[in-house]
Amino acid sequence: MAKDKAIFTCTECGGTSPRWLGKCPSCGAWNTLVETVVEGGNAGASKNRMSAGSYSGLAQAQPVTPLAAIEAQDVARTPSGIEELDRVLGGGIVEGGVVLIGGDPGIGKSTLLLQAMDALHRTGMPTLYVTGEESGAQVALRSRRLGLDHSQVNVLAEIQLEKILATMESTQPAVVVIDSIQTVYSDQLTSAPGSVAQVRECAAHLTRAAKSTGIAVILVGHVTKEGALAGPRVLEHMVDTVLYFEGDTHSSFRLVRAIKNRFGAVNEIGVFAMTEKGLKGVTNPSAIFLSQHSEPVPGSCVLVTLEGTRPMLVEIQALVDSSGPAPRRLSVGLDRDRLAMLLAVLHRHAGVACADQDVFVNAVGGVRISEPAADLAVMLSITSSLRGKALPKGFIAFGEVGLAGEVRPAPRGQERLKEAAKLGFTVAIVPKANAPKKPIEGLEIHAVERVEEAMNIVRGLG
Ligand code: TYD
Ligand code: MG
Repeated sequence: MAKDKAIFTCTECGGTSPRWLGKCPSCGAWNTLVETVVEGGNAGASKNRMSAGSYSGLAQAQPVTPLAAIEAQDVARTPSGIEELDRVLGGGIVEGGVVLIGGDPGIGKSTLLLQAMDALHRTGMPTLYVTGEESGAQVALRSRRLGLDHSQVNVLAEIQLEKILATMESTQPAVVVIDSIQTVYSDQLTSAPGSVAQVRECAAHLTRAAKSTGIAVILVGHVTKEGALAGPRVLEHMVDTVLYFEGDTHSSFRLVRAIKNRFGAVNEIGVFAMTEKGLKGVTNPSAIFLSQHSEPVPGSCVLVTLEGTRPMLVEIQALVDSSGPAPRRLSVGLDRDRLAMLLAVLHRHAGVACADQDVFVNAVGGVRISEPAADLAVMLSITSSLRGKALPKGFIAFGEVGLAGEVRPAPRGQERLKEAAKLGFTVAIVPKANAPKKPIEGLEIHAVERVEEAMNIVRGLG
């Protein structure tokens, strides 16, 4: 047997190097190479065998075909019965599809998947729940708590990949959950479970198994402190769908967002509420990210954001306070670089200076907002806090702000305005191009082309 050989694997891209280097030779990231051990001879040999084998396999099985001659079937989806989950999956579970679902510990990944497996099992699909983090008894306890007393979901408490694959082969489930991929290890590698090499190798094997057998595989992934999925970046490339759980563990609302989906739209979100009996879908989530102020308070501005197919109202809060020598800019749920840019635009184009102030911005409820249409609401909440003057009651705003101080339209403005009107909002500042042709009942709409205009209108309203 060949001597064990150490290689260094990049935690960002999964690239390898025979020596430790400060910078990854594949992706250029710094300090990302970690030592992983492979059985040199064996791994090399099996790799060669595998690639030679798969090449010849491909050549025989897949002759080239003109695109037009390939039957383009839409993939069949099996709805899980949990509507909000199906929404992010693009309709349901796809045969042979691999889904990676990431999120903070305790946010509800295991809960949601157990509920989904039970629902699928009840529709007649054989399911297998592989748990590596909890014992079978713990999973059973959770299922009782969820009120799934007579659940027929098969549970396997196992962390060794080869045994999991063997069980998949012998029991032939239609859907398998691996909770979590970081706990699974393969015998063929000597490095510890959760190491880059193990996670990548195990995920690759499971993906291959899914594609060759048609079993749908759902991988649960841990996230790091920074909120990225732990393990190699390649994991996200390998799978068909990547879902992220978001939300503040202290509030009961949870969002599941599709980051990548080969079978559906991205940035679609599913909204859940964590209850005593597990996660319940929230079908009308538009008002859950508003905090309840009896009277308007300074530093708060409601934004109508469009997540996937549904408009939602989210309260943006800002606190501007005089600071020491080094003013801080902090944002929760919003991009920090964008905040710095918006402060510069405010200064330059609206004459609002925050250079000697700390600026904190927060999107209420732990929701993450990535669309630039939030810009106007962020700026208005900052100026409102700085002046200590609340925006009018029933006020909303949206619109992207450019470096030249122009306010750019947001996609599907009409829908946003209608949703706001439906929820009883009465005044809006929107980009000119989003102004509706026909008035919307109950909503007074101010269309603006520039930031300074928006600031003047707000002053007039107050
Ligand atoms: P869990 O699904 O174990 O999280 P993850 O797998 O993402 O780590 O979620 C557990 C949390 O949810 C825990 O803090 C308890 C809470 N919870 C409820 O509030 N209600 C329930 O019915 C269940 C099962 C869990
Ligand atoms: Mg869990």
